Formats: sequence, structure tokens, C-alpha cells
Amino acid sequence: MTDFRLNRSAVTLALVLFSVGVHAETPKLDEKVKAILPLCASCHGIDGISSVGLYPNLSGQKPEYLAKQLHDFKAGRRNDPVMRPMAEPLDDAAIDALSRYFSKVKPPK
Ligand code: HEC
Repeated sequence: MTDFRLNRSAVTLALVLFSVGVHAETPKLDEKVKAILPLCASCHGIDGISSVGLYPNLSGQKPEYLAKQLHDFKAGRRNDPVMRPMAEPLDDAAIDALSRYFSKVKPPK
């Protein structure tokens, strides 16, 4: 289930990004989502703006769309070897909360 196949440096990087990136803007998150957010942020950015060309920005996207993509990755309807194992352990509440979080964080001006 929680088979993220991440090495220590990726987790450390995620934690660093998380600790420097949390601003007053951050929507309220429950503990479960807070625990998984650094993982998502290591690719998509804590502010939903990715620094890698093949990792999409999530900031400013519609929450319904983001949630649909996560459900689709989880079910294998959208097939991506990177995102499928990310979405698999997420339950409906986590998908909903992460989708709302990433849609709300503001893109830089
Ligand atoms: C190792 C890097 C990585 C991690 C970690 C990661 N993602 Fe992704 N994500 C990607 C890539 C790459 C894609 C694009 C997949 C494709 O090309 O179909 C993507 C796509 C998505 C999309 C669809 C975006 C769109 O515009 O269609 C959503 C939503 C998403 N990720 C959310 C998350 C969430 C939530 C987490 C944490 C649970 C997460 N991602 C963790 C790399 C990552």
C-alpha cells in the first residue's frame, strides 16, 4: 500500500521544501494530508508550481479536475508509472483535500 519507493534524499528534499514553503496562504489541512503533502510537493512544488518540465503545475487548476485525475491514476484509467503509485494509497478524503489544497495555492505573480 504505502510503497512510495522513495530514497532518503528525496524525502529530505521534500521536508526541506515543505518547511521553507509553508506560508500564511496555505489552506487548512488535516494531519493525514500534511503528512503526504511533502511527497507531492517534491515534484509539484509546495506552491503547486513544479520546477521540472515534465511535472505539471497544479496551482490554480480546478479542484474537480485534479480530483478526477487522482481517481483516474488510482484506478489505472489514466496510466502513468510515476503517478499511479502516488495516487494508489490515497483515500477519497485525501484526494479531495489535496485537490483543494493545490487548486488554492496561488500561482506566483
Ligand atoms: C516523482 C514525482 C511526482 C510525485 C512525488 C507526485 N507526482 Fe503528481 N505527477 C507527476 C507527473 C510526472 C505527472 C504527469 C503524468 C502524466 O504525464 O500523465 C503528474 C500528474 C499529476 C496530476 C495531474 C495533473 C494534470 O494536469 O493532469 C495530479 C493531480 C497530481 N500529479 C497530483 C499529485 C499528488 C496529489 C501527489 C502526492 C500524493 C503527487 N502528484 C506526487 C509527478 C509526481
